Amino acid sequence: MVALLQLIYLSFLSKFHGKQQRYRYSELFGSSGSKTKGTQPEKNARKERLRYSLSTDLHLQFQAMIMAREPKSDEVFVLPAFEIRHDRKMPATKPELVQLYQVGEVRPFYEELCPRCQVPTNYSQWVNIHVRGGAPLEVSYWLTWVDPWEPFYIGPRSVPLYDEGFKQYGFNRISQACELHVAGYRFSVLNSAFVVHRGFKIQGEFHAKKDKENKQNRVLFRSFKEGLKTKYPSSSRSLLLP
Ligand SMILES: *[C@@H]1O[C@H](CO)[C@@H](O)[C@H](O)[C@H]1NC(C)=O
Repeated sequence: MVALLQLIYLSFLSKFHGKQQRYRYSELFGSSGSKTKGTQPEKNARKERLRYSLSTDLHLQFQAMIMAREPKSDEVFVLPAFEIRHDRKMPATKPELVQLYQVGEVRPFYEELCPRCQVPTNYSQWVNIHVRGGAPLEVSYWLTWVDPWEPFYIGPRSVPLYDEGFKQYGFNRISQACELHVAGYRFSVLNSAFVVHRGFKIQGEFHAKKDKENKQNRVLFRSFKEGLKTKYPSSSRSLLLP
């Protein structure tokens, strides 16, 4: 289900007409014109939205940012991902988030279950970028994908889609991020935008078949990476895949 959160597309108000074709709302923001309305993916996405929270005004701030600077066609914007203790109030701004982070009420997403999955985001760097109130949203630093990073990002419609071969648990988000990398995308980390998952992800809370599914998908991921070498024959990045 987390897979649904991978791609966040934005729709723009009519005054941004030129760009409207290239970005549209998706699951995290809640889509009104979604083709999948009422279907299971749509319901799952709605359920998922309740468990994730975005920094306040992200939509407006993002619009302002891309009006000021046209995104590159091979650029996606990373939102560092966190998780918060169940009963705590979701932080709305980066200073609020950082305060909770410093006392351990908020921590990197998946820190306990798969620290390597998020660590490439470089949390210490991000947390140390101070953002004054009212400062515009902008790119702070750029990252290159490393296995098994699974960032959350805002991207254009044109990004490669998921491989639907990844069913059940594991490697869906990683595989898609890996393909972006091979296809030549850059990952631009936003200075003050973030996503927070309600509740700490802990061992033992998953369904019984999770480990088996994960093992199957690990094998699938290996062949997926082989497939990328064929799909992007001229990409120097595909040759370096682990
Ligand atoms: C994170 O960023 C800091 C500051 O730029 C840098 O010194 C450090 O090497 C980075 N850590 C990783 C794991 O990339």
